[in-house]
Amino acid sequence: MCGIVGYVGSEHAKEKIIDGLKRLEYRGYDSAGIALPVNGKIEIRKHVGEIKNLEKIIGGDDYDAPVGIGHTRWATHGAPSDINAHPHGNQNNSVAVVHNGIIENYQEIREWLQREYGVAFKSETDSEVIAHLIGIYYDGDLLKAVNKAVEDMRGAYAIAVIAADEPDKIVAVRKDAPLVAGIGKGFNLIASDIPALLKYVREVYFIENNETVVLTKDNIDIYDEKGRKVKREVFHVSWDADAAEKEGYEHFMLKEIHEQPKGIQDTLFKRLADDNSINLDGITMTKEDIENFNKVYIVACGTAYHAGLVGKMVIEKMAEIPVETDIASEFRYRDPFVDDKTLFIAISQSGETQDTLAALREAKAKGARIMSVVNVVGSSVARESDDVFYTWAGPEIAVASTKAYTTQLICMYLIALYMGKTKGAIDEDYYNLIISELKALPDKVAAILEKEKDIEKLAKKYYHKEHIFFIGRGLDSGVSYEGSLKLKEISYIHSFAIAAGELKHGTIALMDPDTLVVALATQDFLYEKMVSNIVEVRSRGARIVGIAKEGKNEIEKVSDEVIYVPQCIDEVTPVLAVVPLQLLAYFIAKERECNIDKPKNLAKSVTVE
Ligand code: M6R
Repeated sequence: MCGIVGYVGSEHAKEKIIDGLKRLEYRGYDSAGIALPVNGKIEIRKHVGEIKNLEKIIGGDDYDAPVGIGHTRWATHGAPSDINAHPHGNQNNSVAVVHNGIIENYQEIREWLQREYGVAFKSETDSEVIAHLIGIYYDGDLLKAVNKAVEDMRGAYAIAVIAADEPDKIVAVRKDAPLVAGIGKGFNLIASDIPALLKYVREVYFIENNETVVLTKDNIDIYDEKGRKVKREVFHVSWDADAAEKEGYEHFMLKEIHEQPKGIQDTLFKRLADDNSINLDGITMTKEDIENFNKVYIVACGTAYHAGLVGKMVIEKMAEIPVETDIASEFRYRDPFVDDKTLFIAISQSGETQDTLAALREAKAKGARIMSVVNVVGSSVARESDDVFYTWAGPEIAVASTKAYTTQLICMYLIALYMGKTKGAIDEDYYNLIISELKALPDKVAAILEKEKDIEKLAKKYYHKEHIFFIGRGLDSGVSYEGSLKLKEISYIHSFAIAAGELKHGTIALMDPDTLVVALATQDFLYEKMVSNIVEVRSRGARIVGIAKEGKNEIEKVSDEVIYVPQCIDEVTPVLAVVPLQLLAYFIAKERECNIDKPKNLAKSVTVE
């Protein structure tokens, strides 16, 4: 996720900015850069890769100033590269900008700047338009120029700007992306996140939405959107650097679980137009391609594979095409039946998983069309695919995948709906119904998160169990695999997931009074069958934690505990049902004092076979 750091004072800005950027490294980034006003002009240095690459090219003291801005980029528009890295300058580098977030109407602005001012763009980013807009409006008053540029911009963003002719100030704006000003003595700082400031200051102002802030070495002036000065309370940060990185959450995993409403919202709305149609920016797959496919393979590993299990069911239902979901390490060696009528969908958070990449190459060599669902822009899987559906989860730091999974599910729905509508397999009413159910998900996930204390209580009751089973039918069976993986990878409890109807064919032999069974019963048309399966395991003495939709109370009679998720149509329940399972795994692991963010034997990205 992008990071912003700015310093204005009387010492070397370069050192402070680099130091602040390093404190944001934990969030993940693909390039870094810095801009300083030196000898009447802004010098910009930026480099793809780690901050140490940037340090190598920024040289000695002659490249320094008492004011400057810096950035770590997590690519969204345009691949990770030196050119796409921030800061961005205008035509003659008289102003420079760093930007977090998205400028939704950047194409429009870009075309206007090219047409009216002959602006030659250097990068593929949405951010560069901001620098040119400010440059065009600048007449010696940076605050005025920034305010005017902001009137033209739509989207969610935080920006920080400097001008060569006003080398004593930074102007920054917040609109739906975090910004915090650090209050120093004889210097001030601006940053997207508190950890970047903590080495130098403890007193901060939180900048609110639609506010502009002007920082000089002795002042921080905050203005509302009407240009009126705002008085802000000073906030004293008492967290240590470690807690600040996690924004007060005890672990990254918990923070990322809580980021799911936003990730779902961002992933959905990136692709949804106002009329509910799915915009396919950057996707080249045509109606003819879709009609030509006679089969879909979804291939992935771990959690991403579990998203594929749900993907199979929704694509088959909505697009009426056979789908096979396979584990990448199996697919690559089993000589699967793939040809030019095959759509191959790779799902990968990192986009670097070796098995997934090898399976993708195998399918490509056999003529399949390759689509991927990826969280990291410019990753290997993304680069080697014909089309990419990005998840907008932001960087996932905890090894246990949570927000990547729910955003992958959103992409599965979007792909299924798009294919189904294009083929005429679903009608307008059904399409609109699913879209409205998807739009309601962020609030419903937030409602489940509010019940986190109840789930923590359950965890305290059951954390000592040696064996925990997860069962479900239909879409719930896919989710139960994910619940089981989450639990075992972070708590080290032996866990097993199985389609509930399959229990009686062997696994039921393992049920006894020491066993805990988490039973998912969120599918209305399978509800009664699930209740029967619960009765089967309960009669062997197992304890039951049921997961059901609000209002489906029958399950209480056969369960020891029930966690309810909000009402919704069966098709989209996996996005809700998984959240209590993530929380249960998290709190059980916490009770067992496990290293939750970095479980033993596991790596975040598995780049070896
Ligand atoms: O980066 P990827 O999505 O390709 O990673 C795939 C798996 O390694 C990953 O989902 C893994 O299973 C997670 N640690 C599970 O939480």
